[in-house]
Amino acid sequence: MSINQDIDLSYHWMPFTANRDFKKDPRMVVKGEGVYYWSHDGRQILDGSSGLFCCAAGHSRTEIAEAVAEQLKELAYVPPFQIGQPLSFQLAERVAKLTPDGLDHVFFVNSGSESVDTAMKIALAYHYARGEGTRQRFVSRERSYHGVNFGGVALSGMVKNRQIFGVAGPAVAHMRHTWLEENRFARDQPEHGAELANDLERIIQNFGADTIAACFVEPVAGSTGCLIPPKGYLERLREICDEYGVLLVFDEVICGFGRLGAPFGAQAFGVVPDMMTMAKALTNAAQPMGAVAVHDRVYNAIMGASPEDAIELFHGYTYSGHPGACAAGLATLDIYERENLFERGAELAPYFQDAIFSLQDLPQVMDIRGYGMMAGIDVKPAAAPGTRGPAVQKALYKAGLHVKFTGDAGIVAPPLVSEKDHIDRMISLLRQEISKID
Ligand SMILES: Cc1ncc(COP(=O)(O)O)c(C=O)c1O
Repeated sequence: MSINQDIDLSYHWMPFTANRDFKKDPRMVVKGEGVYYWSHDGRQILDGSSGLFCCAAGHSRTEIAEAVAEQLKELAYVPPFQIGQPLSFQLAERVAKLTPDGLDHVFFVNSGSESVDTAMKIALAYHYARGEGTRQRFVSRERSYHGVNFGGVALSGMVKNRQIFGVAGPAVAHMRHTWLEENRFARDQPEHGAELANDLERIIQNFGADTIAACFVEPVAGSTGCLIPPKGYLERLREICDEYGVLLVFDEVICGFGRLGAPFGAQAFGVVPDMMTMAKALTNAAQPMGAVAVHDRVYNAIMGASPEDAIELFHGYTYSGHPGACAAGLATLDIYERENLFERGAELAPYFQDAIFSLQDLPQVMDIRGYGMMAGIDVKPAAAPGTRGPAVQKALYKAGLHVKFTGDAGIVAPPLVSEKDHIDRMISLLRQEISKID
């Protein structure tokens, strides 16, 4: 396929992409199967990041495609407001069965960003319903990523994502991130840093508990390079939230669906939040879909605050619980169950972690962090920080490996269907390309 001749690239404004640079030398993928992509110039590319951490069951699964096609032929769309369709109820039950006890109510959306903004609204509605409408402020963390809608941008702790758009969002105070020099190259949960959770208490005391609605954290901060929570950190956040009546929300958009060796980060780390946001691997990324799992006490408070025949939450999307997305979700959860993919990920994780930490000897590697089937590798920055990572990502792609970089951090998260020899190949390509950095 000759991309420049057959397709005019000028029309599509690509997201989070250096458009002009890309269009000079396009990297197009035309096929995906199992753990591989195929590029437009016919090369096989091993996927080291499950697309964008979403294709846990591998690419282009026929079962999901067929389920979606069948559903679209039978019923492609019905308004989700005031009318229902069976699949969204079935999928909600299946999702709720995977979440910790109590998180039994599921609100469907179309992306991770929408799940975050929806959870923010639910938090506000919960406090309002209980007569605590002054709780309108949020707490999140530096180096967090909570999507790109205005709520999520306000929560996120990534400078470039906030610089231009930050002012219009809701009020958010940021805790410090948990990367610490003394934890460099720590495997699993680092020893140091639980006390950083006390930032939450400081913020609450600074603004007054009666102004704080919720604290949002990713169990593992994924997009900024896989920051694993220090031992005791999430537990301490839970304690502080309980003490001050603040809701704890885990953004599980990356961590969910087996990535950390358990269905969700909540179970991996043994801390139960009041809400969990999810997306990505919910449908194996075959259809856009996200969800918020909400604890009984939050749901019941909101339900109880309005008359039986009234709308309880003035929120929802035209495509909430879309039949095609629900069919994809159900087929995806069937695969996870049938192929024991969460257990498989947990079994493969020690091998993967050994492999990734073997790169520690390279002088160009500044830090490695990892948990379950996810790891972050910081490469030696160039004179302008943040430019080396994209260059390494391009070189890896040319060499036959897809790994997503954010700045100078590579985030490796292989599909849960990977075999050991796929992991070996990923590591050897990473070694080959990272060792070329001067
Ligand atoms: C933790 C987290 N939250 C939210 C999002 C936003 O998801 P989406 O890109 O589907 O809007 C992401 C995306 O990577 C994420 O990692």
